[in-house]
Amino acid sequence: MTSSEIGTGRPRGRAPFLEQRTGFPETASPAVEPARVRQDAGLAPLAGNGLVRAADGRAYQLGRNENPFPPPASVINAIVRAAAEAHRYPDAPCEALSAELARRFGVSSDRIVVGGGSIALIHALLEATTEPGATVVYSWPSFDGYPLLADLAGFRSVRVPLAEDGHDFPALAAAVDEQTRLVLVCNPNNPTGEAASDDDLRRFLDSAPPTCPVLLDEAYCEYARDPGLGVRLLASYPNLIVARTFSKAYGLAGLRVGYLIADRSLISRVRRLVMPGSVNDVSQAAAIASLEAEAELLDRVRRTVTERERVRAALLALGFDVPPSETNFLWLPLGSRSQAFAATCAAAGINVRTYADEGVRVTIGAAQDNNVFLAAAEHHGWMRAARTLTP
Ligand SMILES: Cc1ncc(COP(=O)(O)O)c(C=O)c1O
Repeated sequence: MTSSEIGTGRPRGRAPFLEQRTGFPETASPAVEPARVRQDAGLAPLAGNGLVRAADGRAYQLGRNENPFPPPASVINAIVRAAAEAHRYPDAPCEALSAELARRFGVSSDRIVVGGGSIALIHALLEATTEPGATVVYSWPSFDGYPLLADLAGFRSVRVPLAEDGHDFPALAAAVDEQTRLVLVCNPNNPTGEAASDDDLRRFLDSAPPTCPVLLDEAYCEYARDPGLGVRLLASYPNLIVARTFSKAYGLAGLRVGYLIADRSLISRVRRLVMPGSVNDVSQAAAIASLEAEAELLDRVRRTVTERERVRAALLALGFDVPPSETNFLWLPLGSRSQAFAATCAAAGINVRTYADEGVRVTIGAAQDNNVFLAAAEHHGWMRAARTLTP
């Protein structure tokens, strides 16, 4: 197999004219109504996850896996300096950031594409690999962006239920067939938090067809025990694509910067679908400054991990089932009790992410916000106990 064969389920000749000029595919994505797509995907409508407030107006955002720390002073200074040049067009291909990432990961910069958040790049990857009748395989529950983006790109989703302790890799491998054009592996997994090991991933990649691209979505890898896992595997698997983001550990969710690292032929196909200039110079400067401030940011990651373990221990002591997490959030597999638990949180102004009849995901925030959450969880436990005792 040559590297140019990877993910070439559809013969792609010359790109249509509009695509060549703008980087956008000429065929419009099917018109979809987001609420319908979410329902088709088995997800609660987004409206139910809007910001809730307690009666006294307090609100705690623990539903979006954001970093509770604002950017460090050096990053804010870089943002201000770049903003002073806002009358200039940006470095459209993000050459400076791509070069810096390439240097750090020891790959050539033509193996990296930077875009407006990893979600935009996952979308571009799906658009680059789709064809009529194509399927995309991923575990479920997993990142709720996957079914939406798969629908937009015209893929049929094949969802493989998670095993008790994470991805069911033998079942994922068995779900890959001749229609499969892409596999998405969220590691660590959102919303359940567990991370696959080096051995698990190698066994899976060894069993998957080498011509089928596999995306390893590492949005939360900095919070995991083995943050270098995906990049390490790239050397052995040319069909592997690693997605990373500056939104989580680097705390730049609002500035929209993510990147993919992969084989250069796949990267060049994705680049054609990424709008030039979609990452502006303010965002690029912030990302570069964040890499320079990495020691400070990784120290904050360590504090979040310590806080995560404190919150998990407190929840376990309250009698909740909470699987170990290698992310900045915890998963409570509450099943049919999820909505009631989320309602208790909402009454206290705490925003969590509810997966109807499956569970609730809570982001690790600042210690005082986590304490408000723990108080609500304890209150919920008391209320349940009181109801059980009521004759
Ligand atoms: C697993 C996963 N992948 C990708 C994303 C998208 O991140 P962003 O577009 O901010 O880089 C998220 C966001 O929450 C996520 O949880």
